[in-house]
Amino acid sequence: MESELQKTFLDTTNLPDIQTYFVNQAFEFQELMMRYSCAIREVRTKLEVLNDELSIHHKRNPIEFITSRIKRPISIVEKLRRYGEPVSVEAVENCLNDVAGVRVICSFIDDIYAVADMLLRQDDVTLVKKKDYIQSPKDNGYRSLHLIIEIPVFFSNQKKSMRVEVQIRTIAMDFWASVDHQLKYKQDVENPEEVSKELKECADIIAQTDARMLAIKDKIYSGSKHAETTEDKLKKLTIPLGSRTNYN
Ligand code: GTP
Ligand code: MG
Repeated sequence: MESELQKTFLDTTNLPDIQTYFVNQAFEFQELMMRYSCAIREVRTKLEVLNDELSIHHKRNPIEFITSRIKRPISIVEKLRRYGEPVSVEAVENCLNDVAGVRVICSFIDDIYAVADMLLRQDDVTLVKKKDYIQSPKDNGYRSLHLIIEIPVFFSNQKKSMRVEVQIRTIAMDFWASVDHQLKYKQDVENPEEVSKELKECADIIAQTDARMLAIKDKIYSGSKHAETTEDKLKKLTIPLGSRTNYN
């Protein structure tokens, strides 16, 4: 059905049916992408607000930086095909959770969970799905906390609930993921199995380093006698034991 906005901008009266259909679909797609892009801005603002407030209270930023992206049309089509869904605007909205993606890079592991909790406590944020690849790393060593959330975005004449994928990880996990990503898309790597094995080893070393860095941070900021110990924190987060070795 034509929206009011569409009627204002498009005059398809002189076009054959097929062209009218194409123009309408293109417009609806563009409108949907605009809505995802606004949803990204909303989530980024929420995270920036939290970071600003915490830097005042704790003299430290839990978030190092935030990146975001809108899924490319070719990747949208590929994923819909993979799911056996039609390539339509409705299917994008109903079937895909990651058209809008926000990546939050934290310094320390406990910051990841603190940021996630603060975001999910907001009463206009609904958690759709959570995947904790830190407590349960993927076989290749990938670690990150993934949240699919829904947030309302207010437009001129409607409120739309938009889904956003939020990936939260440490700087070290992010470094690892970017190298792993390069391996995935590079076709001509000699001995990819060997590289995967090395990457997996690096992932485990990184996990240990992240745990040690947390211990160091806790020593630096251990002013309060109520401060939780690093070991208690990691236990509570049930970070696998392998990642807990070598810190004190
Ligand atoms: P996708 O079809 O890849 O979106 O997977 P999914 O819907 O099962 O979601 P999942 O939470 O497993 O992964 C979503 C996103 O997390 C991916 O698109 C990547 O950005 C990131 N990701 C997941 N696994 C890996 C991995 O092994 N390596 C890297 N570098 N990134 C990963
Ligand atoms: Mg994805």
